[in-house]
Amino acid sequence: MQHCAAEIQRVIATAKGAIPSGVASRSAVEPRAAAGYPAATSIFGEPPVQAQRPIRLVDYSPYPFTLKAVDLTFRLAAGATRVLARLDLVARVPGASLVLDGVGLRLIVAAINGDALTGADYLLTETGLTIHAAALPEGPFTLTTEVEINPAANTTMQGLYISNGMYCTQCEAEGFRHITFYPDRPDVMAPFRVRVETPDAANPLPVLLSNGNPLGQGPGWAEWDDPWPKPAYLFALVAGDLTAYPGSFTTMSGRNVALNIYVRPGDEGRCAFAMGALKRAMAWDERTYGREYDLDIFNIVAVDDFNMGAMENKGLNIFNSKWVLASPETATDNDFERIEGIIAHEYFHNWTGNRITCRDWFQLCLKEGLTVYRDQQFTADMRSAPVKRIDDVLTLRARQFREDQGPLAHPVRPDHYVEINNFYTATVYEKGAEVIGMLKSLVGEGGYRAALDLYFSRHDGEAATIEDWLKVFEDATGRDLTQFKRWYTDAGTPRVTVKDSYENGTLTLNVSQSTPPTPGQPEKAPRVIPLALGLLSPNGDEVLPTTLLELTEAHQTFTFPGLAARPILSLNRGFSAPVVLTHSASPAEQAFVMAHDTDPFTRWEAGRTLARNGLCAMVNGADAAPDHIDALGRILRDNSLDPAFRALCLRLPGEEEIAQTLYDAGQTPDPDAIHDARGRLATALARTHETDLAGTYTAMRVPGPYTPDAGPAGQRALRLACLGLLNRLDGGAHAKALFAQADNMTESLAALACLIEEGQADDATATFKTRWQADRLVMDKWFTVQLAHATPDQTPALAKTLAALPEFEWKNPNRYRALMGGLSANHAGFHQASGAGYRFYADWLLRVDPLNPQIAARLSTAFETWPRYDAARQTLIRAELGRMAAQPGLSRDLTEMVTRLATAKA
Ligand code: BES
Ligand code: ZN
Repeated sequence: MQHCAAEIQRVIATAKGAIPSGVASRSAVEPRAAAGYPAATSIFGEPPVQAQRPIRLVDYSPYPFTLKAVDLTFRLAAGATRVLARLDLVARVPGASLVLDGVGLRLIVAAINGDALTGADYLLTETGLTIHAAALPEGPFTLTTEVEINPAANTTMQGLYISNGMYCTQCEAEGFRHITFYPDRPDVMAPFRVRVETPDAANPLPVLLSNGNPLGQGPGWAEWDDPWPKPAYLFALVAGDLTAYPGSFTTMSGRNVALNIYVRPGDEGRCAFAMGALKRAMAWDERTYGREYDLDIFNIVAVDDFNMGAMENKGLNIFNSKWVLASPETATDNDFERIEGIIAHEYFHNWTGNRITCRDWFQLCLKEGLTVYRDQQFTADMRSAPVKRIDDVLTLRARQFREDQGPLAHPVRPDHYVEINNFYTATVYEKGAEVIGMLKSLVGEGGYRAALDLYFSRHDGEAATIEDWLKVFEDATGRDLTQFKRWYTDAGTPRVTVKDSYENGTLTLNVSQSTPPTPGQPEKAPRVIPLALGLLSPNGDEVLPTTLLELTEAHQTFTFPGLAARPILSLNRGFSAPVVLTHSASPAEQAFVMAHDTDPFTRWEAGRTLARNGLCAMVNGADAAPDHIDALGRILRDNSLDPAFRALCLRLPGEEEIAQTLYDAGQTPDPDAIHDARGRLATALARTHETDLAGTYTAMRVPGPYTPDAGPAGQRALRLACLGLLNRLDGGAHAKALFAQADNMTESLAALACLIEEGQADDATATFKTRWQADRLVMDKWFTVQLAHATPDQTPALAKTLAALPEFEWKNPNRYRALMGGLSANHAGFHQASGAGYRFYADWLLRVDPLNPQIAARLSTAFETWPRYDAARQTLIRAELGRMAAQPGLSRDLTEMVTRLATAKA
């Protein structure tokens, strides 16, 4: 698939046994435009970005060799690490050449069955090594290679690199090709043996880790054996001066598993929560899915420099230290919950991703969508299920609906890509999880469990596809999923419109669906949409319990006879389908659902709809709606409700969400007007309910020492929601007091944010910095909070000031994201009319791109909403996209992103 002899650009032939000269450099952009992919258009002006050649799902073909075993030896040295690889292979297709991926490798020697290859036997290019069929024996053979790589010079954080003196790897998606010549594709699976050597006696690295079970170790070496066949993207190696925080787990069949969290000496005191989360995840996967762990040891390593959140390498998960290390003083309630969820997510990949992996990267949602779904279920079980569902829907709307609405929209299973790293998206992850939730609604709990059991038994040890996944549901339940498959192949968020009428005791629902066009997909057929519905009588009783309507047509009618009075509709309960729903309920009806529904999600949703619509009206000049303010007061005072739920109801939609709603309604959002309207609503709310807010603020104080459990975290969330509103009346008085007293990061950071919003934070910002200067993770928060809460017109200038500080260690991905993310989270600040926010942001994308293209490409999505805004802002953003596109040597990653960002409808 990725390997086509005609594309080979440079051939270096060498004499037998000789060492080829340096071949390493970044893979070049493919020169030809490919049919069907949007070529760069006039949107940039001249010169256009060179079109990049995509990889296509339809071109998949199996690897023509079977890889039976892999044996690797690493001789670690910072500037010149040697990797010796032994691959046991056998051809499945007679006459096939052996095509191996390899980028930035210095080939020392390659041999087949011990005989070194001569120059005529192979082709060496910037992207790999091809051994001609004529040089390969019939039957099984062994390829050995030795290469040299330079981890110290690796700034991309893909492959083998060094973070704070510690060697570590990141191989997903295509990092292994930066380590050795190999078929770097997920459908090639093999057992691995790994030997790690540290020849440099001056730099002893006491901890040497790889995948699987330990075979042995001695001074300067260790050996590991991973018996479970895996693709190369799950390979990992770690070497450094690390301390283990140990634990253990007894599996359902009584096997003892050693657990370790490896951290830098000094960080052991911040591992207990993550270790507890790991044990809870292991027990939950046994209980809920019948999945048992399959090695004698499970290791987690925390690293400070990491492109992603965490990675599920077999038996050796590698984590961004941000998602492992936690103490009450340094981590917020949100951090604790995320840590628990991410530890679980990576652990759950052991079955959904590792034992059963993806045939190719187009199937990414097979492991990521499913594993997100599983980690969401886990968190719902560990904490409050309704609160978790609301949180997940908030994330889905903020990230995935936004993506689906803009130039980067793509299907859950894309059918082409240029750089796969650009497709680890909210659509693949979050919408991929929603699609599984819908499947479960359609086949029921029992059907879901039967399908999953069949999936695990049928595909264990394989690299599977979405077709395989849907087939287990069809076979286990007898249901035809042909139409359902459109959720995987069609981009875009369906619009569902419900019109209701009532006559002679019968309710009639006219339901229509349509999906707006997305790049490359102008027309969409109707999908299967499971829409959960309940009906309430005017006195608040439920007259129809939750019922699943299956929408399959563009227009459908449903009738509900035998009703004593016109009912109130409770629609899309539990957010049963990820759609934009339009139903002309009056504000009074929405307030009724908010007060009386049996489904907590719909109660919250009704309030959210009221808030969104009210805010949109306020942007257009209206005053705050009394209905909405009253309804929120009732929620605030209702002590029978979970505080976490009340906190969610009190939190107003963010400026970004208001902009999205206005755009959905065909209007052009004005960031300043939105900022102003949201501020006015918050102030009105605070004025009306000042007494109750102050009372609840006091009542929700959690006595005793901090624990991160859902109960006290929910109380703090409600307390801090009250604080945010009171802050608009008291000029920061409550916040100042809290900042002085807080013994935990949740309250400390929330108080600081309030003070920043009130322009009262000079002292607090300095105090916070002095206290936390030595703590990288807390200093990241210091950068973000200042920008995210700054007054919009000061935000771009503040970003500049902060970026000039010596503490802005921008080569660290967390620090870089902290600053850039703080800026883009400040909607009105980022979109400041002068374009200063855009300019600063693009400058820093360009700055990081040559070192770490993955980070630059991911963060470029801040620009994906440009089609929403007015002509002047569109012009400014497009100018920045054009400037980036014209940058000589722009990475393939960022080139693909700016091309896709700019080639959407204007
Ligand atoms: N497999 C991914 C990590 C990954 C992502 C590797 C992109 C290479 C490219 C991992 O399982 C993952 O999804 N991590 C998430 C966190 C998770 C809780 C959704 C991440 O890193 O953001
Ligand atoms: Zn994942």
